[in-house]
Amino acid sequence: MSGILRIRGFEVHQGFLPRPEQEALVDDLRAVLARAPLVQPVTPRGRPMSVRMSAAGRFGWITDRQGYRYAPTHPQGTDWPPIPASVLAIWEAVAGTDRQPECCLINWYGNGARMGLHQDRDEADFSQPVVSVSLGDDGLFRMGNEERGGKTESLWLRSGDVVVMGGEARLRHHGVDRIRFGSSTLLPDGGRINLTLRVVT
Ligand code: SIN
Ligand code: FE2
Repeated sequence: MSGILRIRGFEVHQGFLPRPEQEALVDDLRAVLARAPLVQPVTPRGRPMSVRMSAAGRFGWITDRQGYRYAPTHPQGTDWPPIPASVLAIWEAVAGTDRQPECCLINWYGNGARMGLHQDRDEADFSQPVVSVSLGDDGLFRMGNEERGGKTESLWLRSGDVVVMGGEARLRHHGVDRIRFGSSTLLPDGGRINLTLRVVT
């Protein structure tokens, strides 16, 4: 399936990345993760998150007992690797801004992982979009409102789908209720990778 769906301002580019591009992205991400390993973060209240995280770019988004924030180094103390050119090309194609992303957050969803409804609001400039790239297993993406609560709409994101969260959608709550573990053959051991590209400053 390919084409653009608009739901509450979320611009969903279905089937944006052909399979060979998805495979090349995974190779590039493996190189990033070799330098900046995935970690299982804890929320500021000390609850372990079910996704594992790493990042590329000037900043990574991290969470621990000290709070949610952008950090210039990996928790292990090293710089984050640069954002791969293959990832920057996606931003160039869909973001519609002259600015470059300063963070590529890498979220890895294993069997049973989910992401609760949240807003992306640790960035300085909400006129800049957040661009999300889905790879691997299907994920059930839920889209809500700026305020907490109210009705939501859900859509399965598949490997190669790209979502632009800008404009009216920029501060809407969103999350991933569940993944269909093993639904994609992209990652040999199953799981879902989601990249979110953000302008931080
Ligand atoms: C996020 O909003 O942080 C992740 C979205 C997704 O995994 O599709
Ligand atoms: Fe988010």
